[in-house]
Amino acid sequence: MTQHKLIIGNSMSMEEIQDESVHLMVTSPPYFNAPYDYKGLFKNYDQYLGVLNRVAKETYRVLKKGRIAVLNIDDMLVNGEKFPIVADATKIFQSAGFRYRDRIIWKKPDGYLRISKRSGVLLQNPYPMYFYPDNLLESILIFQKGTFDYRLIPKDIKEASKIDTKEFSENKWYMTLWEMTNVLPGSPLEKEIAAFPEELPYRIIKLFSYVGETVLDPFVGSGTTMKVARQLGRNSIGIEIKKSLIPIIKKKIGFDGQLSLDEQGDTLEIIVRENVKYGCVG
Ligand SMILES: C[S@@+](CC[C@H](N)C(=O)[O-])C[C@H]1O[C@@H](n2cnc3c(N)ncnc32)[C@H](O)[C@@H]1O
Repeated sequence: MTQHKLIIGNSMSMEEIQDESVHLMVTSPPYFNAPYDYKGLFKNYDQYLGVLNRVAKETYRVLKKGRIAVLNIDDMLVNGEKFPIVADATKIFQSAGFRYRDRIIWKKPDGYLRISKRSGVLLQNPYPMYFYPDNLLESILIFQKGTFDYRLIPKDIKEASKIDTKEFSENKWYMTLWEMTNVLPGSPLEKEIAAFPEELPYRIIKLFSYVGETVLDPFVGSGTTMKVARQLGRNSIGIEIKKSLIPIIKKKIGFDGQLSLDEQGDTLEIIVRENVKYGCVG
């Protein structure tokens, strides 16, 4: 039986979550004023970094010692200017107290459609200085809060959480390059939400948490992390600022039409903070 909590509010504060009560954080923050998804959401880049800064500090507070925080994030091109989000987010998480542990590159399939075809410029003008590559990559940044004490995990929990080494090898989880298909445009539940594919939290949850533990996603969107956490026997906490996503999240994690309990005994609690506004999130 697993327990899930959805908080509708701004994740710059995680007031409902106790210190050192979460075992893993995995999330994909909104991309800074991404042309498709978040055009004009933030007043400026500093405001965006301010949100990441507060979320990093709150994540550090709520994570247990030794545990992992994972950000799926990437540099963003807005009106011809490239913003170094990966570098800045890394610094922000380090200043919050985390150790920078790894960077994995997520490669989308070659035919990935949801990008502007910048390379077309060179085809129109096949001369030097017209090169603008198409981006098929995102970063998966892995941070750790201190060091993990492996002796704290009981033997039965360890066994129940064992990683399938065949899956690990065959799907090449061992490399710093993860080839995963993105959520295809037109997927009904993720419409207008820049959702990540289930494969991303699936790998992270399996690699960095044990069954029965709690996984947090402070930018939960359509609820992908909560869905996968539930399927893998983990509890989850999701924070989302957009109240209108409640029915989508409920449907995705499988509590559609039910209030808070399903036949297996899994529970979903929804907390809606007062005065939640979507717009300026800084
Ligand atoms: C990139 S999407 C996450 C998608 C998610 N990984 C999924 O698979 O559906 C980012 C989400 O963060 C939400 N958001 C933006 N700013 C927020 C904030 N300050 N607090 C909480 N949620 C926020 C957006 O509304 C959006 O749904």
